[in-house]
Amino acid sequence: MHAQWSAHSRRPARGTKASTPRRSATARTRAETRTSGPDPRPPAPAAAAAQTTLTTLSVWRQLYERDFPLYKQPLEVGCFSLDSRRRFFNDARQLRYYVAPERKIPNFDLRAGYRERFVRRDDGVKEGLDHILRWILANRAKLQAPDAAAASPPDCALGVDFVTWRGHLTKLLTTPYETREGWLLAATRLRGTLYVSEVETDAARAERLARTERHSEMMYWGYKFEQYTCAAEPRGRPDEGGVVNTNEAFCTVVRTRLANHRLLFSGEVDCRDADPRAPPGPACYLELKTSAEICTAKQRSNFHRFKLLKWWAQSFLPGVPRIVAGFRDNDGMVVSVETYQTSKISQLIKNEYNCWKPTVCMNFCSDFLSFVQSVATEDDPRVVYLFSWEPHKEVSYTVHRDTQYCFLPDWYLREMTHAQ
Ligand code: A3P
Ligand code: MG
Repeated sequence: MHAQWSAHSRRPARGTKASTPRRSATARTRAETRTSGPDPRPPAPAAAAAQTTLTTLSVWRQLYERDFPLYKQPLEVGCFSLDSRRRFFNDARQLRYYVAPERKIPNFDLRAGYRERFVRRDDGVKEGLDHILRWILANRAKLQAPDAAAASPPDCALGVDFVTWRGHLTKLLTTPYETREGWLLAATRLRGTLYVSEVETDAARAERLARTERHSEMMYWGYKFEQYTCAAEPRGRPDEGGVVNTNEAFCTVVRTRLANHRLLFSGEVDCRDADPRAPPGPACYLELKTSAEICTAKQRSNFHRFKLLKWWAQSFLPGVPRIVAGFRDNDGMVVSVETYQTSKISQLIKNEYNCWKPTVCMNFCSDFLSFVQSVATEDDPRVVYLFSWEPHKEVSYTVHRDTQYCFLPDWYLREMTHAQ
């Protein structure tokens, strides 16, 4: 059975019409050649030599233990803000300034205000790439600067190969080590650029709808910590009694290159260094995190293995150099604060047995992007290639034409196809 067919039968397309990717009768795939079992093994050398276009991509870690791929220093090309009603602004009005806690044991109460002063974003509303697309339309001249145009082939209107959210790339980086949550990523090609947008899996949707009050409160804790450590003005103080509104966001937009893939992506940034002499973004940005306090060796090991992987991937991608972590007890009181240098995290975990490796994360991401490039060839926003991954399986894909998976909005297509 072909991998993409098994993906079909597991996920019967929600009333959509799916077509199979065309492939030659002699093409061999990793899925067809591997032995069955929970661990996706690499292909036998003879089969690998006979491969043409892959129909699946293996997630087996050892395949990606090669030299670290080229990853260019991310360059901030712009930013945008979303206000308390999720309205887009092509500026930095929501950028906040870091205020270090005054005490070594801050005793911030992360539960404060959960009932009275919390406005939660409706995460049932799927925005796709819309905010990034708005930013692109507002900044096309910048993207098509003479040097950028010269470097890009004439059939690539934006001069980048991929447009996506940082969060989607974070998921790709951590995939070789992920054992719980799968993902679905939709890709569509328009004028040479691939747009990659997440589709909520059935499991993620079920989890979101079944979220307990305790879980919901713990999600608030992370935002409350941001409120204790951020000010709206460079010399301002945190407004501890204010409303926590998770609609508000400041997002950086960066350009970079992973191997031969030119990337444009955006990610939310928690705050910047309040010192006006700090370098420009992303070097002045800080990521804020909370985590349970570490009391045992086992907890430390789990923190290194699982949490630091996610923290590293999220901040490494946009070039955010520092992560400020608030460690809290079970009652939501912050008992200590520690700063991690993103570039030193891989050193911190070196003593963990069989731990994650940055090179595996980056090589997997690079190979996945190559896989998408080779599969998503039709330059037509009505065609969506849906890449699907579940733990212990390989990445597979299906092709969908004129279905509800189409995600580039008409207002974007109109601008991109008419106004040159
Ligand atoms: P923590 O990371 O401190 O838990 P981010 O750290 O990415 O800026 O996100 C801010 C906060 O949003 C998180 O703070 C957490 O409270 C909440 N959050 C983000 N993604 C989440 C997820 N997948 N599940 C639960 N909470 C999440
Ligand atoms: Mg954060």
